[in-house]
This record gives sequence, C-alpha cells and structure tokens, in this order.
Amino acid sequence: MLKYSQGDKKLTLRKVDEKMRFMTAEPFRIKMVERLKKTTKEQRQQWLKEARYNAFQLKAENVYIDCITDSGTSAMSSEQWSAMMLGDESYAGSKSFYKLEASVQDIFGMPYVQPTHQGRAADYIMAKLYAKEGKYAIGNMHFDTFRGNAEVLGALAVDYVVDHGKDTASPPHPFKGNIDIAKMERLIDEKGPQQISVVIITVTCNNNGGQPVSMKNIKEVSNLAKSHNIPVVIDAARLAENAYFIQHREEGYQNKTIKEIIREMFSYCETATMSSKKDGLVNIGGLFVTRNEEILKQAQQLAIVHEGFITYGGLAGRDLEALAVGLQEGVDEQYLEYRINQAKYLGDRLLENGVPIIEPTGGHGVYVDGRRFFPHIPQSEFPSQRLVVALYEEAGVRAVELGACAFGAKDPITGEDIYPDVEAMRIALSRRVYTNSHMDVIANALGEIYRNRKQYKGMKLVYEGPITSLRHFTAGFDLL
Ligand code: F0G
Repeated sequence: MLKYSQGDKKLTLRKVDEKMRFMTAEPFRIKMVERLKKTTKEQRQQWLKEARYNAFQLKAENVYIDCITDSGTSAMSSEQWSAMMLGDESYAGSKSFYKLEASVQDIFGMPYVQPTHQGRAADYIMAKLYAKEGKYAIGNMHFDTFRGNAEVLGALAVDYVVDHGKDTASPPHPFKGNIDIAKMERLIDEKGPQQISVVIITVTCNNNGGQPVSMKNIKEVSNLAKSHNIPVVIDAARLAENAYFIQHREEGYQNKTIKEIIREMFSYCETATMSSKKDGLVNIGGLFVTRNEEILKQAQQLAIVHEGFITYGGLAGRDLEALAVGLQEGVDEQYLEYRINQAKYLGDRLLENGVPIIEPTGGHGVYVDGRRFFPHIPQSEFPSQRLVVALYEEAGVRAVELGACAFGAKDPITGEDIYPDVEAMRIALSRRVYTNSHMDVIANALGEIYRNRKQYKGMKLVYEGPITSLRHFTAGFDLL
C-alpha cells in the first residue's frame, strides 16, 4: 500500500514539472466578473431565521461565497461561449449533437450517447434499464438520484464502500471511494448472482468526501461482476477528477494521460451516466453513454418520452456545443492540477487551524467532520447543520450538510431515527469561479468558529416535508 498523508510534501507519485515550477497560480485570467455582496452579521442572522436555518432556503444574492454545490456552477470559458453561438437548434439531426457525440466518444471511448437535461434524467434511464424490483444494486455509495430512481422501482440499493471510506475520522488513504470486494463477493454468494441486477461505481464518491476509486478496484469489481454476468455501470459526474487522482496516486499511471486513464476506467463498464454540470464544465446537461447497442435503443425510447428527441435530449443546441467543448477542457491537465490543488489548499489551511476534515481532501471540495468539530452535539441535534449555520452567520459562506439531516432515515417498522455513518459539512468548490483568497476567507472563518466551538449548541428539527430522504431541501430548524 502506498504511504500517504495530507501533510506529506511527497503527496503524489507524480513529479512536478521543474520547467513550470513557478506557475502555481490559476491557469486562466478573469474576463467577466460577477459582483458579490458583503453583508453584516445582523442581516445574516435575520435571513437565517427567515430560512428556518436551512441554507437551501437562503437567497443566493445574500451569500458571499457559495459552496452549497459544485453542480452547474462552473464559469464557462471564452471558447465555450463562442461555441454556443454556433448552436444548431434543429429538432432532429442537429449539427451540435454530432459535435457532442464526437467529444464523448473521444473521452469515454464508448460509441453511443444519449444527452439528457441533467444527470438525474440519465440516472432515471439507467435505473429503468438496470435496476430490478426486489434485486440488489451494489454501489460504493449511491448518489441520491440513482438510488431514488432505483428504489422507486423496488430495487434494493446497498452501499459497499470500504470501511475506512465510511469513517470520517479514518487516517488518509489514497482511494477511500473503493468498493469492498469481499462484501460484494459475500452478497453474491449468499443471495446468488441472479439477485444482483447491477453494480454502480460512483467516481469520485460524492457522499464521503469526493474520494476517488482506484483503477485496480474498478477492474476487480468488473472482473468479479462479469464472472457472474452482472453488468457494471459508472456514475461519471466527476470522471476527470477521479482520473487525476489515479494519475497521481496509483502505481503505473504516472506517465499516462488523463484521457488514457478515463478510457481505461470506462473499458471496464458497459454503461455510464454523467451529470455534465460537474466535470463537463457546463451549467446544465447530462449524458447516458453506453457500448451496448440494445441498451442504447431502449435509452433512446425513454429519452423521447421524458427528455426530447434523441439528438437533443432536453437541451438546447447551444448547450450541446458548450458541453462538447467543456468535456475537453475538463480533462486538461493544467486545469485539473489547479482544480485539485485548490481543494487541497483549502483542506491544508483548515488542518493548520485544527479543523477536523475527511483526509485526504477530495476532488470537488472539503468535508468537515461534524462529529469531531462539535463533539458535544449528538447526531440527533445535527452538528453538521449547526456548522453550516455558523459558517453562514460568521462569513456569509454557504456550505451543505451531508449528515443526520441529509442521510438520516426512519426505521420503517418502529419509526425510530437511523443515523448515517458520514456526518459532515461539505464545502463544495465551483470550477474556475473562486480564487484562493476566497479559500482564505473560508479557512479563517472556520478556524475562528472552531476556536469558539464550545459556545455552540445543537439544533432541533421542527419541519421535515413529506419525504424524509428529501428533507434537507425543505427542513426547518430551531436553534437550541
Ligand atoms: N451523480 C452524482 C455523483 C452527483 O453528485 C449528482 C449531483 C448527480 C448524479 C445528479 O446530477 O444534479 O445533474 O441531476 N450532485 C449535485 C451535488 C446536486 O450537489 O452533489 P444532476
């Protein structure tokens, strides 16, 4: 096993290119700016009260630095904006579709693509084609949208991420997104392979810190599944970030290009979905990509009913153009180096301030460990949500809770609360949007909250909304 630690100067197996060693700043310059509003603590306390202490209910214009998501929030490049002017808005056979198709084929190394209006529409199609009533869908950690669609269809979604991936306090490990092969094997043995309808690998693993999955793990999962005729699919929202980690952390990939690594990743699966609002560097869009012609035909039928004709899939021609370019920019190694290092910069600054985070820092943000941050606040009083509120109150920074509120469930028989393993606040970083000065604001504010942590008390959930699994969007809280 590779020796790895966050503070280690030799963080990666890959060497820095000496000829570029001074070029550590963002690999772009700013051509258009969007004003951010500075606000007072009294204003923010008022807005929090009006939002019932739920960050989703705040008005974005009252947020100074918005880290609620990295989805659909990228700054597009001048090349993308100019490509949009070429958008072909034909209903059928749009020129823009063929450009997107070529770009997808080039990156994924798979022949067939169906665009969708965003990732969850592709997840819906994926679930319809691969999830089966009463059968298991094995994942590292299922993202809500595939899980939700699969469960509506009666499938049993199980999370088999490795144990150290579930423990937010575990020591750094290069690939905390890996699937536990032994667990997968056990389920196949116990239930029989025909009871498992699909294995879905989410790269990177969003729910536990944007943690990557190694090539070795993807290959082993695929070999095991194939030997039992179980299809393997990939949720590829952050495919480029995952490939970057493989290039930097996994033996044998240092001299491979990001594109070569991505193509190898997808060589082990039959089908993939992608929310292109992440590594596709666009504000809207999704993809369903497959090498199976029969599956493509079925996906096209579902797309026609739910999304739009097969060559636009619920997107405008100009969106297809922006995505065709964005996919290529998203695998650019100089861009990715900036991207991953910005998250690491924030992670390192937080660690310097003593703030407990999931280590190592992942691809699309930093996840603060709510339990270790507020050890005196039990999960039943939402420590990570309390941290979200404190961070907005102090600095106007909006993050998102991924803990007792977002992942909590209720026992179907007793109605008792079930608390998740992961209890964190995610600070998601939009692509090409904020500078490292913004990262300093976040680190300074969280450092101060951490120093004063004993002053904080927990929260009480006073409103949930009709569906527990969706409550983090609608919940209302009181401060205790
Ligand atoms: N898969 C993963 C791994 C995701 O992170 C998301 C979205 C989706 C699928 C769904 O894609 O939003 O385009 O429909 N994640 C966002 C987030 C919402 O904040 O992590 P979508």
